[in-house]
Amino acid sequence: MNTYIGIDLGTSSVKLLLVAADGSILNSVTKEYPIYYPQSGWSEQNPEDWLKATVDGMEELLNGHSRYEVKGVSFGGQMHGLVLLDEEDNVIRPAILWNDGRTQKQTDYLNTVIGREKLSRYTANIAFAGFTAPKILWVKENEPENFARIAKIMLPKDYLAYKLTGVHSTDYSDASGMLLLDVQNKCWSKEMCEICSVDEKWLPKLFESYERIGQVRDEYNLPNAIVTAGAGDNAAAAIGTGTIKNGNCNISLGTSGTVFIAQDAFSVDKNNALHSFAHANGKYHLMGCILSAASCNKWWSEEILKTTDFAKEQEGLEEYLGDNDVYFLPYLMGERSPHNDVNAKGCFIGMRMDTTRQQMTLAVMEGVAFALRDCVEVAKANGLEINSTKICGGGAKSDVWKKVISNVLGIPVYALSVEEGPAYGAAILAMVGANEYATVQEAVEKFVTTKDAVFPDKSLTKNYEEKYRRFQKLYPALKEWTLLSAQ
Ligand code: XUL
Repeated sequence: MNTYIGIDLGTSSVKLLLVAADGSILNSVTKEYPIYYPQSGWSEQNPEDWLKATVDGMEELLNGHSRYEVKGVSFGGQMHGLVLLDEEDNVIRPAILWNDGRTQKQTDYLNTVIGREKLSRYTANIAFAGFTAPKILWVKENEPENFARIAKIMLPKDYLAYKLTGVHSTDYSDASGMLLLDVQNKCWSKEMCEICSVDEKWLPKLFESYERIGQVRDEYNLPNAIVTAGAGDNAAAAIGTGTIKNGNCNISLGTSGTVFIAQDAFSVDKNNALHSFAHANGKYHLMGCILSAASCNKWWSEEILKTTDFAKEQEGLEEYLGDNDVYFLPYLMGERSPHNDVNAKGCFIGMRMDTTRQQMTLAVMEGVAFALRDCVEVAKANGLEINSTKICGGGAKSDVWKKVISNVLGIPVYALSVEEGPAYGAAILAMVGANEYATVQEAVEKFVTTKDAVFPDKSLTKNYEEKYRRFQKLYPALKEWTLLSAQ
């Protein structure tokens, strides 16, 4: 049977899935790589680490499986990361990632001197510190010797595609997060290239996510495999969770947390708090992104409680639902949606002498759920109705977290039969690129199914509504303090 490889180039690891043409999973492999924080609020990775982990992972994935049956490869990738190559295709400096907050000055320049109105007209979005364009300006100002060497600019997953095929490509969903793409018209914005001193020659060729970009090079020994452009991880996850119809919602609870709302037609949030991006099915989406989601729980468990047994740590939390006076602000890497504040910080508030470890663990999960609710509120203010959501990402493995999210949002939350959203979505994109299925929708309808659902409970929803109203007051009250402490 024909098989396909879906690759999710995440922030903590790359996940590879070998998927048969009927949608069944034949094998999966995860390979980790380091993330570097050279200064507080900065985050970088080495593209060569991604490549090595991916190539090693592919060998492991195919162990015991036919290489000849592999008909296609595609990707979902962490978005916005700046990868720079020189004339000889050497990586010029480590990639600056989506959750790196060093570009406050450049972001302010873009939003105030160029102006939000112009940015939104050119790209459908305003500048956020994690987006790619402010990073290019940062390199120009701070590392002119590196800027002078630039021959190619690409996004993280596009570096893998380039190494596998020799084709310098990207797709519309991922390119949307660069602030260089005219999202509505799906072409590079000449105005933005000029504003950011970007030579259009440096930019990759644009494709739909399900379009074939080339053939896998001989050295990787996949003689029958084509490569499909792939998508940003959130759009790929939306494919993997079947979030493709107008108004469908998917929440990703990974290192970041996102609220992804599929849209048939292009639209822009009136305050630009939600991103207006292209979708991997050829359409569009609106998205809110919080910078620290499952990573808050990882930080709290591993760094503070010194445990990696998340399930054990979450035992017994259910009895505290609706009865927890502790609050947590999840801004461990600053915040993107809706506050757009690189200086925002994490806080615990409301402990007393009888506060327990469990209440603090639950507060972390609740704080993330409230931050997701902030994004949902922006969507509602734009007239969008969200009546239910799918969920994926590492955090979605936690039953209690799904329960908290369902009650904080007051909607049913559906988990998927295949939990690996972005990698599964990537495999579907590979299938469409190889003509196994005519459209993304056909493949999704054939084999993406939900596994179970959590429904909101009236009394908990009421309780969480009150807690959310108090949570909403915390960031504005603390904002001045967090700004002061950043200087
Ligand atoms: C989306 C975003 C994150 C990364 C995480 O805008 O920045 O979700 O894509 O991988």
